[in-house]
Amino acid sequence: MLSTTFAVLAALATVSNAALTRRVACPDGNMVSNEACCVLFPVLEDIQTNMFADDDCSDAAHTALRVAFHDAIGFSKSDPSFGTGADGSIFMFAETELSFGANLGIADAFNLEAPFIANHSIGVGDFIQFAAAVSLTRCPGILRPTFMLGRVDATFAAPDGTVPEPFQSVDAILARMADAGFTPAELVALLASHSIAGADDVDPAASGLPFDSTPSVFDTQFFVETQLRGTSFPVTGGNQGEVESAIAGVLRLQSDSELARDSATACLWQANVNNQALMASSFQAAFAKMQVTGQDVSKMVDCSEVIPQPPALSAAAAAAFFPPGITQNDVEQACATTAFPKLPTAAGAPAAVPSIVQDPATDGACQDDGSGCVAPFTA
Ligand code: HEM
Repeated sequence: MLSTTFAVLAALATVSNAALTRRVACPDGNMVSNEACCVLFPVLEDIQTNMFADDDCSDAAHTALRVAFHDAIGFSKSDPSFGTGADGSIFMFAETELSFGANLGIADAFNLEAPFIANHSIGVGDFIQFAAAVSLTRCPGILRPTFMLGRVDATFAAPDGTVPEPFQSVDAILARMADAGFTPAELVALLASHSIAGADDVDPAASGLPFDSTPSVFDTQFFVETQLRGTSFPVTGGNQGEVESAIAGVLRLQSDSELARDSATACLWQANVNNQALMASSFQAAFAKMQVTGQDVSKMVDCSEVIPQPPALSAAAAAAFFPPGITQNDVEQACATTAFPKLPTAAGAPAAVPSIVQDPATDGACQDDGSGCVAPFTA
């Protein structure tokens, strides 16, 4: 009797394993675990070919990443009027949300992405987060992002004040992030994104000013270079939300500078220095959480398998360094419990880091004050 029971259980286990591993063929021949994910392949093909065609982790990829944060952070654990998170509201109600100061420059993302959204049948919130996940796969050093499908699109705009600003205090930024469900450690993890980023609007005199010396590689240089004593502004004499950086051509945000030095976050910040594995894995986890902010994950489908594999970064290329002319003496030690890692200085004479070349597709009818940002898709 007992052996019959075991035999039945074993048979059931075999059947359920088979069910778990069963693959479905999409109309285009791609194989997936859940056929709901088939809808993503035409989107992937289109944006890889036409949106990120020549973009090796440059302007288009950076633009697609930033808007994913600005959409998702329209959420509060305590106040439903703050929005429904990663819900597409930033594009669906673009004329409202893009007029907010914190969204300066997000018009670039609207111009870049809106024509593609109109051509596909996935939701606006899903499109924004999918494009961001795909954009990351252009960046060497990233761990393959996950992707959940099935966000519920917004029915109203997020109000002003949900997106942290670079001139706000660390306390104010941490409070806003906590209200949206993120710990200080998760914020620091997410800010690894500034390793592949730059500013177009903080200094109106120049665009594409990178936040570190390697803005097309997801490496730990951002965490190294923000800890160095600032000596000059890249272009003009400094603007709101900007502080002096240590490297010519690089712009440092006041918020990044202060988070690197505040007792609440300094050790979390420094832990990333020369620790590619930590930076990549903590970003992967925090980014996955950010992408479903405000959404009911139990009603979504895991389509991570659709996301391409990112290019690898060799251990040698991931090794952190001080830029030419800079040494350990230029570090402003802020973590009270652990010394800053010893790093070599790169050979050569100090040189200005080139600005990030702007993608012409980020120009269009949508303007930085929100005017002309009319959604060509239905709300
Ligand atoms: C304390 C929180 C944050 C603040 C204060 C902040 C602020 C800024 C500012 C002022 C810019 C320059 C915008 C411009 O001049 O055009 C910027 C760029 C950028 N940010 Fe953040 N950010 C924060 C968090 C994040 C997060 C969590 C992500 C992504 C997960 C992100 C991704 C980016 C990217 C990719 C860019 C470059 C955009 C481009 O080059 O087009 N930021 N951020």
